[in-house]
Amino acid sequence: MRRKIIAGNWKMNMTPGEAVKLVEELKPLVKNEEADVVFCVPAIDIVPVVEAVKGSNIEVGAENMYFEEKGAYTGEISPAMLVDAGVKYVILGHSERRDYFHETSEDVNKKMKKALEHGLVPIMCCGESLTQREQGITLDWIRQQVKVGYQDIAAADAAKTVIAYEPIWAIGTGKTATTEQAEEVCKAIRDCIAEIYDEATAEAIRIQYGGSVNAGNAAELFAQPDIDGGLVGGASLKAEFGKVVCYK
Ligand code: 13P
Repeated sequence: MRRKIIAGNWKMNMTPGEAVKLVEELKPLVKNEEADVVFCVPAIDIVPVVEAVKGSNIEVGAENMYFEEKGAYTGEISPAMLVDAGVKYVILGHSERRDYFHETSEDVNKKMKKALEHGLVPIMCCGESLTQREQGITLDWIRQQVKVGYQDIAAADAAKTVIAYEPIWAIGTGKTATTEQAEEVCKAIRDCIAEIYDEATAEAIRIQYGGSVNAGNAAELFAQPDIDGGLVGGASLKAEFGKVVCYK
C-alpha cells in the first residue's frame, strides 16, 4: 500500500510573518498518521516555517529550485541551500513555471536529477491545457512530459519521487477534473512509469492529483486506485486544508 501524500502549494502567498501564523493555525488541524503532510512554501518563508513546524507531523517543501550547484545565477536557490534549511520536498515543473517562466521538460529533468543527487524528493508536475484536452492529446502530452522529466533517472531514484497530475484548466478555477478524468490520467502516468522502468517502480511511485482540490472533493479523488493524494493550492491557505488532509 502506498502511503498518501497531501501537499499544500502556497504559490506566491504569505509573508514570513503571515506564514508562521498560518502554520500555527493549521498545525492542530492537519494531523493524519496515514499520510505525509507537506507545506510547500515560498523560499523566503522556508526558514521560519521549518522552525514553526518543529515537533509536528508537517514536512516542508520548496516550490522551485535551480539545477546548478552554486555560482553566478542571481535570484536562484540551490538544492544545498534547501537541504541545509531543512527542506525535504521540492515542487518541480509546476505549470505556472512552465507557462510564465518558460521552463521546459528538459529543464525539469535537470532539476529532477540535481534534487535527487541532494536527497530531496521532487514533486514533478505535469498537466494538459484545455486546448490539448479538447484536441484529444492529453495522454500523449502527459506521457511526453513524464518521459522527458525522468530521462536518465535510475529506477531506484524514480521510485522515491512524486508526480502531481494537474490539468491546467482545473488550477485555481474551481473546476475540478471529474474523478474519472483524474484517475484515467493518473493511471496512464503509472503505466508510463511501468513502461520506462518496471512494475515495481510504477507501484512504488506516488501520484497526486491537483486542481481545485477542496474539502468537498478530496475523499472521492483520494479513494481512486491510482491517486495517492493531492497537491493543493487555494485550499491549503486556510483552515479548510485540515479537512483535505483528514479527508476520511
Ligand atoms: P488550486 O488548488 O488553487 O486549484 O491550485 C492547484 C495547484 O496548482 C497546486 O499546485
